Amino acid sequence: MTMRTRTLGTTGPQVSALGLGCMGMSALYGDADRAESVATIHAALEAGVTLLDTGDFYGMGHNELLIGEALRTAPAARREQALVSVKFGALRGPDGGWTGYDGRPAAVKNFAAYSLQRLGVDHIDVYRIARLDPDVPIEETVGAIAELIEQGYVRHVGLSEVGAETIRRAAAVAPIADLQIEYSLISRGIEESILPTTRELGISVTAYGVLSRGLISGHFSRDRQLAANDFRAYSPRFQGDNLQHNLSLVDALRKIAEQKGVTVAQIAIAWVLSRGEDIVPLIGARTRERLDESLGALDVTLDEADLTAIEQAVPADAAAGDRYPTAAMAHLDSER
Ligand SMILES: NC(=O)c1ccc[n+]([C@@H]2O[C@H](COP(=O)([O-])OP(=O)(O)OC[C@H]3O[C@@H](n4cnc5c(N)ncnc54)[C@H](OP(=O)(O)O)[C@@H]3O)[C@@H](O)[C@H]2O)c1
Repeated sequence: MTMRTRTLGTTGPQVSALGLGCMGMSALYGDADRAESVATIHAALEAGVTLLDTGDFYGMGHNELLIGEALRTAPAARREQALVSVKFGALRGPDGGWTGYDGRPAAVKNFAAYSLQRLGVDHIDVYRIARLDPDVPIEETVGAIAELIEQGYVRHVGLSEVGAETIRRAAAVAPIADLQIEYSLISRGIEESILPTTRELGISVTAYGVLSRGLISGHFSRDRQLAANDFRAYSPRFQGDNLQHNLSLVDALRKIAEQKGVTVAQIAIAWVLSRGEDIVPLIGARTRERLDESLGALDVTLDEADLTAIEQAVPADAAAGDRYPTAAMAHLDSER
């Protein structure tokens, strides 16, 4: 299979049409199996996936060390094709708690130095602050990344979970390759002002939560027990009546998937792929089985009748519950 490609923004790199998000291999979805995680990254590279996404705070460095190991042990040709996108800025405590964000230029350079070391690479392909630091103008944070680009340590600037005004301010400082932001059948907030802005400015979107963290994957069940270290145990969409309602949307989606002979996850990923050539879904697979299923979405074609049926099954504002707990929602410049 030849992997389809898309370009990140007008100045960014060409990447596989689906990227691999590695977060769940280290954190936030309960425990993961290290050997299977590395095997999943290798299988993705073998299938032609070139974009690997991480954050220095995913497992406090664990995720970068994991990706570093996977790159080191991959065949040279695969390693050379891989592009690594890194988020920084989230501050953690020894207990794993979240204590804020730091976008000061000196901090940006410090974060980058540690990431390069953990990843075992001489440059980071796309570098972005995970959340806007409310105490530091975005111009200063992006300016620091631009300096890292001049010095050869970073190739491209990205953004994460920021709104239209911040996108414009950032783009006035340096070319922006992509905005990383949640986008799925049940998280469509970006369609109002954020997506028109990225399109106007020639910035791509790397979409995360395309399966709403597994909620609309077709594999999530009403009685699934979530560990205390699983984000979903606290996510409003996975609670009580909200969960019941949201899974009823999945039941409606399943009927369409069955008619097409594909899986629910494949329909959900194919729908995001169908939104435009400027959108690259990040797949959160942490096993080879889930990866294979996700890659199958590349072969799913949705015609007008399919898209209409999907819209009817899952209308734009159908989800019950916010996409983050209240405290985390407050950090989303994209939700202002
Ligand atoms: N910029 C940001 O603020 C931000 C925030 C979050 C994530 N991200 C990035 O985006 C990436 C993807 O996000 P996400 O993990 O939330 O995405 P997702 O694809 O919505 O959710 C991934 C979860 O869905 C479940 N799943 C079920 N079927 C699957 C299938 N066929 N393929 C993949 N997963 C399946 C898995 O859970 P089980 O294994 O438990 O079944 C998996 O952990 C992350 O890895 C991270 O790199 C960025």
